[in-house]
Amino acid sequence: MVVVSNRLPVDFVVDEDGVEGWRSSPGGLVTALEPVMRESDGAWVGWAGVADRELDPFEHDGISIIPVPLSEEDLERYYEGFSNDTLWPLYHDVIAPPSYHREWWESYVTVNRRFATAAGRAAALGATVWVHDYQLQLVPAMLRAIRPDLVIGFFNHIPFPPYGIYSQLPWRKQILEGLLGADVIGFQRVADAGNFTRAVRRLLGYTTRHTVVEVPGDNGDLRRVVATNFPISIDVAGFEELAARPDIQARALEIRAGLGNPETVMLGVDRLDYTKGIGHRLKAYGELLAQGRLDVEKTVLVQVASPSRERVATYMSLRDEIELQVGRLNGDHSTLSHTAIAYLHQAYPREEMVALYLAADVMLVTALRDGMNLVAKEYVASRINNDGVLVLSEFAGASDELKQALLINPHDIEGLKNAIESAARMPSKERKKRMKTLRKRLRENNVSDWAKAFLDMLTGRAAIEPGIPEA
Ligand code: G6P
Repeated sequence: MVVVSNRLPVDFVVDEDGVEGWRSSPGGLVTALEPVMRESDGAWVGWAGVADRELDPFEHDGISIIPVPLSEEDLERYYEGFSNDTLWPLYHDVIAPPSYHREWWESYVTVNRRFATAAGRAAALGATVWVHDYQLQLVPAMLRAIRPDLVIGFFNHIPFPPYGIYSQLPWRKQILEGLLGADVIGFQRVADAGNFTRAVRRLLGYTTRHTVVEVPGDNGDLRRVVATNFPISIDVAGFEELAARPDIQARALEIRAGLGNPETVMLGVDRLDYTKGIGHRLKAYGELLAQGRLDVEKTVLVQVASPSRERVATYMSLRDEIELQVGRLNGDHSTLSHTAIAYLHQAYPREEMVALYLAADVMLVTALRDGMNLVAKEYVASRINNDGVLVLSEFAGASDELKQALLINPHDIEGLKNAIESAARMPSKERKKRMKTLRKRLRENNVSDWAKAFLDMLTGRAAIEPGIPEA
């Protein structure tokens, strides 16, 4: 099996003394795919996280790592440009305006071809290739053209937008054709898969029957492509184990003590991204303090905003806006002994994140649009004592499964304030009842179940239903 994603599961790093090496970035994806990859002598094709370096393939934990080089210009046009300043905002409901530049598109095509070529070289005859995410949507068709023997899957980790938004994209047909090179196209939510098949019908005129798209071939034959939802998850047991570790529990108590042992610790954990609704969350929290519905002597909000895509202009201005807002709120509401918001523009290792989850009575996930939001799932998995309240945006994919959370519309500031206040005041019995149900639901869909469901569909293709014609 060959996995293709923009980033490798390891980053190339150079330390202060100029010593070069590799650092694993063990995300959920690696954890899920590691066993399958080892069994199948797997390879991972992706970018090493640095520009202008040709790096040789190597073995890492039983997986062949195949770095794909990106130049500084590729980074600007393919990664920061087309991926993160065209597709990212477009696919997230145009919360920020997407930029359309023809030279960015050209670079996207070139880089996608480079990834497809590398994957084609790495794959054995008849192998399974699993391509990931919006940065590589042209790879499936490019790969099929050079290696028709392969079984090709694609999973989109972010939302797929409704037709009225998607149709803005000048290259909207090419992207659909690129994706339809796959045998199975996976999405997070039912709605994403529906948006995709609708776009296929309207822009390409192909027939779709329920989850199956009929793609006409050159000689009049039809290739059947499945487009359906596979909600991603996390390594639930891995988080539970960390949460049960005495040193991590002690660290959680230390964090609370460091914050002055307030009655309620609220937590936000996000990449610093405009899709996450951090500003809406801060606004609601500030108003609750101003109205005396929350007391700064008894409550604190810890906001971890990890640095992300820092050279993209929209991210730079977002950082300025959020930090201005945090500064103002702290200036208005903090006392000499109590800070309203502990703001951290940093990234932390998983152990520290679990300690933070354990330290937090209330977790605030207020995304304006999010494919899934794994932070919501990580919080639930870490709450092994079945306590704690999750406030969760209905615009995050996780809300399809985590229905016992306090579901909110982040645009409705009054509704959000009410939910935050109820979370802080919720009686223990109700907190436990909700968290127990959330944890049970989460355990039903581990990240390994997700990978298995996708790969079973891809390799078996047996589960393809005959298709229910759509009205
Ligand atoms: C999202 C995307 C991933 C991406 C990650 C971090 O989760 O779906 O594909 O890797 O953000 O963003 P970055 O641009 O740093 O890779």
